Amino acid sequence: MNVSEAVAARRSVRGFLDTPIDSAVLQAIITKAARAATGGNLQPWHIDLVTGESLAALKTEMTAKLWRGETEEPAYDIYPKTLNAPYRDRRFAVGEAMYAAIGIPREDKAARRMWFARNFQFFGAPAALFCTVDRHMGPPQWSDLGMYLQNVMLLAVEAGLATCAQECWAVYPETVTKAIGTPPERMLFCGMAIGYEDTSEPANQLRSARASEAEWFAHHG
Ligand SMILES: Cc1cc2nc3c(=O)[nH]c(=O)nc-3n(C[C@H](O)[C@H](O)[C@H](O)COP(=O)(O)O)c2cc1C
Repeated sequence: MNVSEAVAARRSVRGFLDTPIDSAVLQAIITKAARAATGGNLQPWHIDLVTGESLAALKTEMTAKLWRGETEEPAYDIYPKTLNAPYRDRRFAVGEAMYAAIGIPREDKAARRMWFARNFQFFGAPAALFCTVDRHMGPPQWSDLGMYLQNVMLLAVEAGLATCAQECWAVYPETVTKAIGTPPERMLFCGMAIGYEDTSEPANQLRSARASEAEWFAHHG
């Protein structure tokens, strides 16, 4: 598999088999991804891999929390408070495409909430990682985190694995940082589900759209 193929094949998977992953494979992905470029070579990411009993305990805790309707102070605003066009429209479109794939209509808010809650079970994945960062790092370093995480997702494709990056965990930062023992000077960016794709999961039929280049590209020759 070459880079172009891995980039084209990567997509967010929201239904995994419980097939365990060889921990050496996971470790290799996590280590190799750190070849990502970073401004000033800061390498600002901190990564916690969660599997086995630790993962099971976190899933159980989240089930209980959601059942009790418990909320936490979010780590950050996931989206700008006012999301203008075209970004708002793109977000809406991918949400609608996903719920269409799984057959949950707009009016069925309860079913949509139930589906969304599967995020907090990592969509059944047997492995997950969390990415945290020092609180005093700014937007340039946060973009470095994205480079690392993209490497993880592409290397996972190469290893026959699938992923779903998950910023939804920023809504439960206390639970996550307690579970992984994050020191107070660091904050949570996101989680990521990692596993073998369950190809029978209807949500995995989704192929998200992309805006045409005319919307975001200019060539100044
Ligand atoms: C940083 C980041 C956080 C994301 N958080 C979530 C999430 O919490 N839940 C989810 O289902 N998808 C999440 N996604 C997946 C996006 O919805 C997805 O990347 C986008 O719709 C494009 O689809 P694709 O990844 O299949 O190409 C996240 C993606 C990124 C990059």
